[in-house]
Amino acid sequence: MSSDIPSIEPSKKAGSRHRPIKSFVLRQGRLTVAQQNALEHHWCDFGIDYTDQLLALDSLFENTNKLVLEVGFGNGESLLQQAINQPEVNFIGIEVHGPGVGHLIHQAKTLDIRNIKVIRHDAVDVLKQQIPDSSISKIQLFFPDPWHKKKHHKRRIISPEFIRLIQQKLLPDGYFHMATDWQHYAEHMLRQMYQAPGFNNTAGSGNYSPDTGDRCETKFERRGLKLGHGVWDLIYEKQ
Ligand SMILES: C[S@@+](CC[C@H](N)C(=O)[O-])C[C@H]1O[C@@H](n2cnc3c(N)ncnc32)[C@H](O)[C@@H]1O
Repeated sequence: MSSDIPSIEPSKKAGSRHRPIKSFVLRQGRLTVAQQNALEHHWCDFGIDYTDQLLALDSLFENTNKLVLEVGFGNGESLLQQAINQPEVNFIGIEVHGPGVGHLIHQAKTLDIRNIKVIRHDAVDVLKQQIPDSSISKIQLFFPDPWHKKKHHKRRIISPEFIRLIQQKLLPDGYFHMATDWQHYAEHMLRQMYQAPGFNNTAGSGNYSPDTGDRCETKFERRGLKLGHGVWDLIYEKQ
């Protein structure tokens, strides 16, 4: 892999004892030729490098249309479809999995999609460092890793700190849309959001949202449905 393809090696600080718990385990997997090619040659069109500086969001795209940000887009299939369905919206996808990032860039290049940018890094860092407060119209988190085992629950991305970060980055009246195929995680989301200040549940307190139609089916959703799982959507508006 060429050195200008961004990777997300953890920064090793000498003597650092506190490594924050991550919501992912990085299994890069093998890149296909198309994914590798996309990362090497088309990163400049679609990629945003991770830095610790705030992004100038107004100059990222060819226009200043509203911004939707998706955390953990996987292979990007549903993000791509949304970008096609909503050309009047700009999408920023954040994902750590190299093959998924390569896949999305390959598809976006092939279809000449102009309203998608991607960041290959931990979304928690990206939100903290790169996304200005009150700047995003909608943040999406679809089928995050449920971390089934109790001893792994601390890895779940939905936590009071993460929700606070989401609240900070959304515009007033912005939306936070989550979906999961794991009932216990859905209940966890509902509980955490109930306790978090600054949000209204659009379906009414304690309720899941009906299918809104603007979320495209994702790869993990399809997998869950095949296994007989249900799907729970939760949509909150920033107060
Ligand atoms: C279960 S998969 C779901 C992928 C996709 N949303 C779907 O529904 O098909 C969860 C994804 O979130 C990504 N992920 C987990 N934690 C992340 C983080 N902190 N920052 C960026 N991506 C993350 C993982 O790499 C994985 O691709």
